[in-house]
Amino acid sequence: MSTSNTAVTSPADATSLGGEAFAIETFGLTRRFGDLIAANHVTLHVPYGAIFGLLGPNGAGKTTTIKMLTTMLEPSEGTASVAGFDIVKAPAKVRRMIGYVPQMLSADGGLTGWENLDLSAKLYGIRRAERKRRIEDALHFMGLTEFGRKLVKTYSGGMIRRLEIAQAMLHRPAVLFLDEPTIGLDPVARRSVWERLLELRQNFQMTVLITTHGMDEADELCDHLAIMHLGKVAAIGTPADLKANVGPDATLDDVFVHFSGGIIQEEGNYRDVRATRRTASRLG
Ligand SMILES: Nc1ncnc2c1ncn2[C@@H]1O[C@H](COP(=O)(O)OP(=O)(O)O)[C@@H](O)[C@H]1O
Ligand SMILES: [Mg+2]
Repeated sequence: MSTSNTAVTSPADATSLGGEAFAIETFGLTRRFGDLIAANHVTLHVPYGAIFGLLGPNGAGKTTTIKMLTTMLEPSEGTASVAGFDIVKAPAKVRRMIGYVPQMLSADGGLTGWENLDLSAKLYGIRRAERKRRIEDALHFMGLTEFGRKLVKTYSGGMIRRLEIAQAMLHRPAVLFLDEPTIGLDPVARRSVWERLLELRQNFQMTVLITTHGMDEADELCDHLAIMHLGKVAAIGTPADLKANVGPDATLDDVFVHFSGGIIQEEGNYRDVRATRRTASRLG
C-alpha cells in the first residue's frame, strides 16, 4: 500500500505479494462459547481499499468476528491475517495496523473532544511534536473543530460517533474496524458518518470493515458484503452481484431472505439493539 501521508506503520508484504494480498483474510475462523458457535468457519477476503460490510441481524456473529480480527478474542479454530499479520501469531503487529470503533460507546463524556483525542494519540504512540497537528486535522476532518473544547456529554449522537472515528484514525491505520457505527443515529448523522468513511478510504487508502444490520447502509456504503446468519457467511459479493443472483428487481432485503430464510428486521429492531449496547457496556 502506498500513501502520501506519514503512516506510523505500513502493511506487511502488501506489495510484495502482488495481487494475492488482501487487507483482511480469514480461513475457517471459528469461535465457540460453550456449545454455541458464535462464528462458524468464516472465510473472507477483503481487498485493500474496500469498504466491506458484515451484514446480519443481532446474534449473527458480527461482533464476535470483529473481536477476533482486532485480537480481543482468540479464535477457537481457523486463521486470519490483517494487513499481512497473523492475528494469533502477531497480535501486537496487528494492533499497530488497525483502528477500532467498538459497538458500545467508547468516548469519555466527562472529557472534551480534544482531551479524548489526546488520550488516543498517546495510546497510539504519536510523537508529542506531532500530536497537536494530528488532533487539529482529525477534528477538522470530522467537522468537529468548533466543538473540540466542549465536553463530549454535550455532543449529539452523530458528533460522538464522528469523534470516535477521529480517535480510531489518528494514527492512520491501514485497516479501520467499526462495529455498528451508525446505530441509533438519525438519517442525516448516518449519512455524515458514511461520507467520512468514504473520505478516509479516498484520502488515506484505508480499508474499512463495518458491521451493520442496515440494508440501506450495506447497499449504499459497502462495495463488498458478507451476509452473516447464525454465525455463518450465507453469501458474499458486491451488493449488485448479490441482488443480480437473486432476481432482476431484487433488493438487499430479498437477498437476505433468500440466503437466510429470515427477515433481518425481525431480530434486529431498535430495542434489541439498545439492549445489546447496554449489555455490551456492562461487559465492558
Ligand atoms: N462472551 C460471550 N459469551 C457467550 N456467548 C456470547 C458471547 N459473545 C457473544 N455471544 C453469543 O454469540 C452469538 C453471536 O453474538 P455477536 O457476535 O455479538 O452477534 P452480532 O454482533 O451479530 O449481534 C450470540 O448468540 C451471542 O449471544
Ligand atoms: Mg454486534
